[in-house]
Amino acid sequence: MTYENILTANHNGITTITINRPTKLNALNKDTISELSRAISEADTDEDCRVIIITGSGNKAFVAGADIAEFADYDESEGSDLAEQGQNLLFDFIANLNTPVIAAVNGYALGGGLELAMACHFRVASENAKMGLPEVSLGVIPGYGGTQRLPQLVGKGKAMELIMTAGMLSAQEALQWGLVNHVVTLEELMDFTVKIAQKISQNSSTAIAAVIRSINAGFEKGVNGFETEISEFGGCFGTDDFVEGTTAFLEKRKPNF
Ligand code: COA
Repeated sequence: MTYENILTANHNGITTITINRPTKLNALNKDTISELSRAISEADTDEDCRVIIITGSGNKAFVAGADIAEFADYDESEGSDLAEQGQNLLFDFIANLNTPVIAAVNGYALGGGLELAMACHFRVASENAKMGLPEVSLGVIPGYGGTQRLPQLVGKGKAMELIMTAGMLSAQEALQWGLVNHVVTLEELMDFTVKIAQKISQNSSTAIAAVIRSINAGFEKGVNGFETEISEFGGCFGTDDFVEGTTAFLEKRKPNF
C-alpha cells in the first residue's frame, strides 16, 4: 500500500512506521491518522511482522501535536468527532493491538504526539526529545487519551501539573518520571529500539498478545485484571506456542515460534 504522510519498512519481522511530514514537524492531520491506522492494521495481520516501531522523520520531531491548522475553526461537535474518531481509529487501536508497538521518540512529542507515544506499549527516547501536553495553552484539553494515559504512567499529581502548566519535560525528566523506559543518543535511537524489538520477536507472539490484553485489563474500569490473567493464562495452554515453548525447554533447545 502507498501512503502520502508515512513511510513503512519491514526488516526481519520488525515493521518501522515513520511519520513523514517534516515541514510540519510531523503534526497529525486526519489523513495521517487514517494512514497510520491502515498501516498498523496491515502490520498487525502480516505474518512477517512481530513488532512495530513508530517514529518521526528528521531529527527534530516525533510528532509536534495534532495539526492545529486543521482544527482551528472547528465547532463543538466537530471537536468531539475529532477526538472520538482519532481515539477509535488510532490511539485505542494501538493500545489494544495484539502486536507490540514501541514508540521511538526522536524529538518533540507534544499534544497528540505524546498521546501517540503513550498509546504505544512503551517508549524509548533520544536525548533531544521534549515531551508535553500543551493543549491548555490553546484553550483546549488533550483529546486523544492524554488525560487518561498520562496519570496512568506518571501518577495523578505529576499529570495534573504537566498538563496545567503546558510544560515540557526533557528526555531525562521523562526517564525519571517513568514516561519513557530508556534515553539514548539520537544516533543510537533506532538501533537500540530495534534491539529491544528483536528480543521481543524471539518470544511467543500469542503469549505476548495475551500479556498486552492482561496488562490493559488492569487499567479498564469494571474489569478485574486478575481474572483476565487467569483466563489468558489458561488460554495459552491451548496454543501451538505453548507446546513448542515447553517442548523446546524439555529438549534443551531454543523454541521456534
Ligand atoms: N500543528 C500544525 N503545524 C505545526 C504544529 C502543529 N501542532 N507544530 C508545528 N507546526 C508547523 C509550524 O506551523 C511550522 O509551519 P510553517 O513553517 O508552515 O509555519 C513548522 O511546523 C515548524 O514549526 P515552528 O513552530 O516554526 O518550529 P520551532 O522550532 O520554532 O518550534 C515547536 C517547535 C514544537 C515548539 C512549535 O512548533 C510548537 O509549539 N508547535 C505546536 C505544539 C503544540 O501546541 N502541540 C499541541 C497541539 S494540540
